[in-house]
Amino acid sequence: MVLRDGARKSLWQETVTGFLPAVEPKQQHFDVVIVGGGITGITLGVELQRSGKKCVLLEAQTLGFGTTGGTTAHLNTLMDTPYTDIIKNFGLENAKMVATAAREAINLVKQNVETYAIDCGFEEVPGYLFSQNETQTSELEDIHEACQKVGVGCSFVDELPVPISYQKVLRIERQAKFHPLRYIQKMAEVFEKEGGVIIESCRVTNTGKGEHDIEVEATTGKFYGQHVVFATHIPIGVNLIHFRCAAYRSYAMAVRLEDGQYPEGLVYDMYDPYHYYRTQTIDGENYLIAGGDDHRTGEETNTNGCFLKLESHVRSHFNVSQVVSQWSSQYFEPADGLPYIGHLPGNPENVLVATGYGGNGITYSHVATITLSELILTGKSRYENVFRPGRIKPVAGFTEFVKHNAEVVKQFVGRWLGQDKLHEAADLASGEGRLVKYEGESLALYKDDSGVLHAVNPACTHVKCAVAWNAAEKSWDCPCHGARYSVDGEVLTGPASRDLEKIELRTLVDKEENA
Ligand code: FES
Repeated sequence: MVLRDGARKSLWQETVTGFLPAVEPKQQHFDVVIVGGGITGITLGVELQRSGKKCVLLEAQTLGFGTTGGTTAHLNTLMDTPYTDIIKNFGLENAKMVATAAREAINLVKQNVETYAIDCGFEEVPGYLFSQNETQTSELEDIHEACQKVGVGCSFVDELPVPISYQKVLRIERQAKFHPLRYIQKMAEVFEKEGGVIIESCRVTNTGKGEHDIEVEATTGKFYGQHVVFATHIPIGVNLIHFRCAAYRSYAMAVRLEDGQYPEGLVYDMYDPYHYYRTQTIDGENYLIAGGDDHRTGEETNTNGCFLKLESHVRSHFNVSQVVSQWSSQYFEPADGLPYIGHLPGNPENVLVATGYGGNGITYSHVATITLSELILTGKSRYENVFRPGRIKPVAGFTEFVKHNAEVVKQFVGRWLGQDKLHEAADLASGEGRLVKYEGESLALYKDDSGVLHAVNPACTHVKCAVAWNAAEKSWDCPCHGARYSVDGEVLTGPASRDLEKIELRTLVDKEENA
């Protein structure tokens, strides 16, 4: 089984074996240094390597450790940001570009699956978006009209492949699904076969302009590239991008159904956050995957409760015989609804980024592959303007979005300075974590299953917001820009590139016991 950035196991993790990179190279100079071994980095690597670029892929943990191992792997041309909003905020021509890019992305996945004979359960299926009240129906009609304008094939139908009541159903043609880890593992093999180099357990901590190329500092040494791409879900360092993306957690579960009525297609309701349902067949076994109950990272104190809510929702509609796995994962919502793909602001021209995918990460990973490979190989891309990270769109909600980020910091500082005593730690149940204050020391405390306390400084190493406990995934999550850490402070998710400071707790406990 491969590892992931949380304590719970996703369906994908349990149905693959690990990937072992070939021998590490001696060289340090490459055409392209790709940072991040998720679906974006690996697919881009294959594309560039096949076009004659010599690439190295640096992964802080193991391939698929981040959201690629926790996604629910929907491939859509109907994006989470409705085309009504994209047309309103970016104009009809740009909205058409988004629809074309999404179609091209799904085609690229399909082409890779066929070319490299990837056994990942890829299947083109219809999508279904359904309304359940008058407001949603009116919104659905607007979405239908916008889809017609941008060229996304869809129509109203009087059927829904899940046993849930509806007012109106929009069926969208040629969406798709697959097993994300089986896909990337095979793509990683292809990357190496084409001459690419993969280095795992190699965390990039800094980049800067070298004499000729970009210098990349990593925990295993220095690398140099004519281009550097941050395919890390969110870039490291402190960047404008971090103030234009908000981190969210999403909850998912895979179940078996008593009656065997697994739905065909990808199905979505229209609540905010919305629920989604789809089927995946793995090694001859069917699973219903359902998800929802999203919230801003670090803002929900009862993350286990989110699973209970989702499970009760799923059980109210489906005849569940067994819950196979439950897991949560992270995504970054862009302020104006479109991802940021292209030049990373504040860096030399040849430092690129792909982030802010929202809930369409798998589709946008391939949009990024297409856009970034075009930029690197030819200096321009058909999609560079619409996804340009440097854009500033004064769209409705942007001010609120930024303000919300600031309020999180304020709210957190208040909680961080609470008057809790360390003796509260003794009250921690096994498996529980909490922030406490003791003799001027702020501590993030966790008691493991054998009763041992783990303490770290709760100040996030990105820009010092205080982290919050995530009980479901047993991690410390930062509410400001989404960095996440293990119970011992090790970075699980950027933008932080340094671990939380580990605190020697034993002396503090002893001190109290002797008082
Ligand atoms: Fe930015 Fe924690 S992620 S302060």
